[in-house]
Amino acid sequence: MNITVAGGTGTVGRHVVAVARARGHHVVSLSRADGLDTVTGDGLAQALEGTDTVIDVAGIQTLNAKKAVDFFSTTTHNLLKAGTAAGVQHHMVLSIVGTHKAAAGYYAGKLAQENLVSNSSVPWTILRATQFHEFAAQMLERSSVGPLALVPRMATQPVAAREVAEALVDAAEAGPQGRLADLAGPERKRLVDLVRAYSQKYGPKKLIIEFTAPGPLWRAMRNGDLLPEAGSDVGRQTFSAWLATDRNRS
Ligand SMILES: NC(=O)c1ccc[n+]([C@@H]2O[C@H](COP(=O)([O-])OP(=O)(O)OC[C@H]3O[C@@H](n4cnc5c(N)ncnc54)[C@H](OP(=O)(O)O)[C@@H]3O)[C@@H](O)[C@H]2O)c1
Repeated sequence: MNITVAGGTGTVGRHVVAVARARGHHVVSLSRADGLDTVTGDGLAQALEGTDTVIDVAGIQTLNAKKAVDFFSTTTHNLLKAGTAAGVQHHMVLSIVGTHKAAAGYYAGKLAQENLVSNSSVPWTILRATQFHEFAAQMLERSSVGPLALVPRMATQPVAAREVAEALVDAAEAGPQGRLADLAGPERKRLVDLVRAYSQKYGPKKLIIEFTAPGPLWRAMRNGDLLPEAGSDVGRQTFSAWLATDRNRS
């Protein structure tokens, strides 16, 4: 199968590319590092020529709702338009568990993306996953202020990005299915404990303090709105097991 991975150089995208290639698919990675920008859309139609399935795992790092909605709406619109012109038969998106409940900040962008895809004429699949194990490293970096790391109170059930990639390639092989069962990791954790464990093992060493962040987004994250509901699929690799394997360090 010919698969194009939008965001194929990213945290999960690298795994999607590797898993799909290992299974014998022809894979093209589409990112700015590969010379293609999903926001401007330039050259997308040519890049998608011959593609059977698009797996969209592109993303930006922002908490700002307008920036998130702009990025995910524009990227999705451009990929669907170019995909339709190129005869793409399956458009897949990776979203986030609880997006409909949080629906603020970054999650407003994910909801806009889901709505565009599910109302599109291109047959589609949406997989919602929980935070990746790598989220701890990202939070350590983003929350650091001098010698401190100020980590918002949040409940999460992190999953291995590799297992999310495997689920996406499974779904690409199976064909369009609409919304899949959500995918979560095997253990429920406090974000601050994950950040502490990551900092201990890989650094930088910080005084890590948990605090109650204001606003609807963090209230949702604190209240467990991003945790999986009954009936979700559950991954195998725990956060501790991931931490013990250097290969996943990003
Ligand atoms: N991180 C999580 O815990 C998590 C959990 C569940 C779902 N998700 C979803 O999974 C997706 C991927 O997340 P991630 O953490 O793997 O993201 P990431 O590591 O930040 O990677 C983002 C990817 O998107 C590409 N990209 C960004 N802007 C682009 C543009 N204008 N044109 C083309 N490519 C662009 C980046 O490459 P360039 O910078 O080279 O363009 C990179 O390959 C996101 O949609 C996110 O919402 C993430």
